[in-house]
Amino acid sequence: MRVLVIGGGGREHAIIKSLKKNNRITKIFAASGNGGISLDAECVPIKAVDIEAMTEFAVKNAVDYVVVAPDDPLAIGMVDVLEEKGIRCFGPKKAAARIESSKVFAKNLMRKYGIPTAAYKTFNDPKEAESYVKTDGISFPLVIKADGLAFGKGVIIAENIEETLSAITEIMTEKKFGESGNNIVIEEFLQGPEVSVLSFTDGKTLVPMVSSMDHKRIYDGNKGPNTGGMGVIAPNPHYTKEIAAICEKTIFLPTLNAMREEGWPFKGCLYFGLMLTKKGPVVIEYNCRFGDPETQAVLRLLETDLLEIMEAVTDEKLDSMNIRWKEDHAACVVLASGGYPASYKTGFKIDGIKEAEKKGAVVYHAGTQYRDSSFFTTGGRVLGVTATAPELGDALEKAYNAAEAISFESVHYRKDIGKY
Ligand code: AMP
Ligand code: GLY
Repeated sequence: MRVLVIGGGGREHAIIKSLKKNNRITKIFAASGNGGISLDAECVPIKAVDIEAMTEFAVKNAVDYVVVAPDDPLAIGMVDVLEEKGIRCFGPKKAAARIESSKVFAKNLMRKYGIPTAAYKTFNDPKEAESYVKTDGISFPLVIKADGLAFGKGVIIAENIEETLSAITEIMTEKKFGESGNNIVIEEFLQGPEVSVLSFTDGKTLVPMVSSMDHKRIYDGNKGPNTGGMGVIAPNPHYTKEIAAICEKTIFLPTLNAMREEGWPFKGCLYFGLMLTKKGPVVIEYNCRFGDPETQAVLRLLETDLLEIMEAVTDEKLDSMNIRWKEDHAACVVLASGGYPASYKTGFKIDGIKEAEKKGAVVYHAGTQYRDSSFFTTGGRVLGVTATAPELGDALEKAYNAAEAISFESVHYRKDIGKY
């Protein structure tokens, strides 16, 4: 079987390493992959959003199965086009991917089907948004969200009226996130621990994966700007069996059924970004794909073969799968380029990856290039150092011991992953 994985980050490296365990797979292509992935798969220089080139490549190279991992190709209908060509895929079609690519769509779906989420209003006119936030009795902070994809940066928490008005201007008038800001959601600010729950779903059956906790801020103590994610622990200690049962009943199954009833069943990995508020668990966001870096930790705990699960999703036979997880804990520490998420330099040689792996960690590559038998930095998030152990503390210690073995100029990583 010949498989193509679209994407080129730590998430894709983790997916590829898991797929490699299946001996029915004879070839893995990655588009466009990265330095680390190039040792596990054949990297092809096709942009993740280039539907035409991707489809042509898949047909020409007799690809049997495509895993579409990132949000942007899913949002523009990569799966729809590949399936029209008769190529089987893992990932939702364009209409179902709107659960992530349009926050207005997601919020309206939740309202219609009574799925708990922050109270909100949507706007397509900045004047109307401005007069709404000036209404008497509006309390701050308020959360302003661009409707469309915005590289994970389209959410602004505004502490007062001035910040709210400038957020509306930036998103809707100045178009900081382009067309993604044509519409906005203004919603109530909620508080509580955040939990990521990724799930496999074939549109009829939904199987949650082990829960996880991302660490979005750049600095220790959850300080500084938001990033794509600086580390993960799994399972998430806040996510008890009781909370899981509530989420299943009030969030997961209602979402699955809502998507089916609306006529766009969701097939692929549906990611629930949850907040455990005093009033119960609520949805903060949906993603139509595996989370990154969550996947780097979660897949380390998966015992069942990943390809078997993915094919069961594609064939709508997920109900026949018995998906098993290790009882262990996983910890992933992200090594980033100094300066990230603002500007940073790249092209630095990375030392110590082999030593880190000798210490029992798996090193997933996110922003690396391989040349002259060495790895060099190419991105903001460079590596995800992941370890597992029966106890969380030991998994963290193992991951940090391994991370310390790795060096490149201006490397930055958080020292407090899993401490909350
Ligand atoms: P998102 O891009 O939707 O994942 O949002 C980024 C982050 O903003 C989330 O992980 C939360 O920490 C925060 N956030 C989003 N919506 C809310 C909300 N209604 N109340 C409080 N924090 C929020
Ligand atoms: N780590 C958050 C995300 O993948 O969206």
